[in-house]
Amino acid sequence: MDLSSKDSLPSPCFVCEEILLENNLKLLKYIQDEANVNILLALKGFALYSTFNLCKKYLKGCCASGLNEALLAKEEFGGEVHTYSPAFKPNEFEQITQISNHIVFNSFSQLELYKNQIKQHNSIGLRINPEVSTVDVDIYNPCAIYSRLGITKNNFQKLPEIVDGLHFHALCEQNIDDLEKVLNKFEKNFSQFFSSLKWINFGGGHHITREDYDVERLIVVLKEFKRRFPNLKIYLEPGEAIGWKTGYLESTILDIVTNDINIVILDTSAEAHMPDTLAMPYRADIRNSGKIDEKKYNYRLAGNTCLAGDIIGDYSFDNPLKIGDKIILEDMIHYTMVKTTTFNGINLPSIAIKQKNGTMKIVKNYGYESYKDKLS
Ligand SMILES: Cc1ncc(COP(=O)(O)O)c(C=O)c1O
Repeated sequence: MDLSSKDSLPSPCFVCEEILLENNLKLLKYIQDEANVNILLALKGFALYSTFNLCKKYLKGCCASGLNEALLAKEEFGGEVHTYSPAFKPNEFEQITQISNHIVFNSFSQLELYKNQIKQHNSIGLRINPEVSTVDVDIYNPCAIYSRLGITKNNFQKLPEIVDGLHFHALCEQNIDDLEKVLNKFEKNFSQFFSSLKWINFGGGHHITREDYDVERLIVVLKEFKRRFPNLKIYLEPGEAIGWKTGYLESTILDIVTNDINIVILDTSAEAHMPDTLAMPYRADIRNSGKIDEKKYNYRLAGNTCLAGDIIGDYSFDNPLKIGDKIILEDMIHYTMVKTTTFNGINLPSIAIKQKNGTMKIVKNYGYESYKDKLS
């Protein structure tokens, strides 16, 4: 449904701005063309499929974390489907083989378990753990101590004949210097196998569309890798870089209560709609706000669930806030709508696309049925 300029959005509502998304996609395509690599969309971070007609003009396909994401990739995106899971489920694997171009196993035991089901069109990879730990926050660090994600050098003695490629994913919101550290160790430990391989997947975590990302250096690093190993096709599978700063979550103030400080209760929730603000944790950027005491009026912004810790953070504003005011939480497109829950029976936020011609299109509204549907 297209909104006319006088209609207001449902609340809360994710708004993805097509122009901003396309700018990210253009930058990724530039790298793809300059460095002759293949960039996939990681659905775990960005799965707003109403934008896939746009995304597929620029990217080669999707990487999926299992059957459901692989199905979405096939149905809504087309192109290549690369599926990796820490462990595949026996009742889903057959369908995964039908849909996927690449299947990446996390262990030799998984490869052993499923190797007889592999089809001719499946190119098989193994995820390795490069054991370079550059991510500070442990829950986002695939190379943290005792990580279950990928095979370490000591556990990787022989390359099975069926394997065409190696996959690593070791970064989270990082720049090229960290990729170079990972790549050095990866090559040192695994290049002995490269001559028997067809491809390497560099995973995600490349914060390519962030302003300070050194795109030209990335192109050089990729080209140099290709020069050293011309037989290898390179894949990158960013998620966050695709949805980075492409839109916001608009919410409405339902009440303001006072307990020494003024606390705003929004119709959204950190816990249910923006879980990374609590998990990372990070401070969401709020339009026209400052840190506490930076502007005249201080408020704590909180969610509309019963969880005591459902708190977005403390902010200040130039003018007093009032019930019914809109609060805009910036950069809420990646890793948000893929993680939302209906905790407390709270509705999921609607989803709207701000189209290139400026019109706002509501692509999803949720109600009681969505809440009931996941329970029984
Ligand atoms: C295997 C794999 N590939 C790709 C990604 C996408 O990473 P990002 O969204 O940080 O670019 C992830 C994220 O966790 C991942 O685990």
